[in-house]
Amino acid sequence: MEPTEVAQSRRIVTEIPGPRSREIQKRRSAAVAQGVGSVLPVYVERAGGGIVEDVDGNALIDFGSGIAVTNVGNADARVVARAAEQLGRFTHTCFMVNPYEAYVEVCEALNRVTPGDHEKRSLLLNSGAEAVENAVKIARSATGRQAVVVFDHAYHGRTNLTMGLTAKNMPYKQGFGPFAGEIHRVPMAYAYRWPTGPENCGPEAAAAAIDQIVKQVGAENVAAMVIEPIQGEGASSSPPPGSCPRWSSSAAPTGSCSSPTRCRPASRAPATCSPVTTRGSSRT
Ligand SMILES: Cc1ncc(COP(=O)(O)O)c(C=O)c1O
Repeated sequence: MEPTEVAQSRRIVTEIPGPRSREIQKRRSAAVAQGVGSVLPVYVERAGGGIVEDVDGNALIDFGSGIAVTNVGNADARVVARAAEQLGRFTHTCFMVNPYEAYVEVCEALNRVTPGDHEKRSLLLNSGAEAVENAVKIARSATGRQAVVVFDHAYHGRTNLTMGLTAKNMPYKQGFGPFAGEIHRVPMAYAYRWPTGPENCGPEAAAAAIDQIVKQVGAENVAAMVIEPIQGEGASSSPPPGSCPRWSSSAAPTGSCSSPTRCRPASRAPATCSPVTTRGSSRT
């Protein structure tokens, strides 16, 4: 990580939230839609490394890190320099109207750092939910099928389709239905108290989920399985070793796409639909 100007130590100089934060909170109540919540009503002045400085001069340890998406801190010198340089040249042309090299560069980087040495392509979208929605669109179009398989505890976003893909009704979906159809939920591998021991959980749980897909959905109807490689909502649990490869290898022969979504400790990477797992599809 590059050095940051924000001192890397905790410093409390007012009550929390401080007077300036409380003042902004009052303005916020009058101006910002009530549906938007914040965990801590402390307003940020600047941030960097592992520290968030508030408008009252307090320095707090940043355990949130933007829900684990600012992995290099909030003001890494290389990120700031590259973004500032870009903003100085132009802010937006819309890649679909006038393309530019930086978009291609980011896709090349994503293809390089995401798992697998097969041929890959990426597209850049505005949010995680939009990435998941587009992965589903691509999988449905590529396979000519409709069913999407998702997992217990999963969180996939706040749009209609991604709410439908999300497991938990409370609080994410409550009052917002009806949701899109052709979504099938199967159990997630969870090693804690797995009857035959945690070491067997990965392959056994994956096999049970695949059996459910085959018997209840029909493998030939599945366009995609959407999987969080590390679940955030499921108590930040990682599927035990053996589950992801088993799900992936089950997708290939049936022609469905396995679509790993953004994982918690990683970046807001767009969902990728791997060509390897679309083998056998009638339209690819
Ligand atoms: C696993 C996962 N998928 C999708 C999303 C939705 O991302 P966004 O809020 O950028 O739409 C999130 C957001 O927290 C997420 O954790």
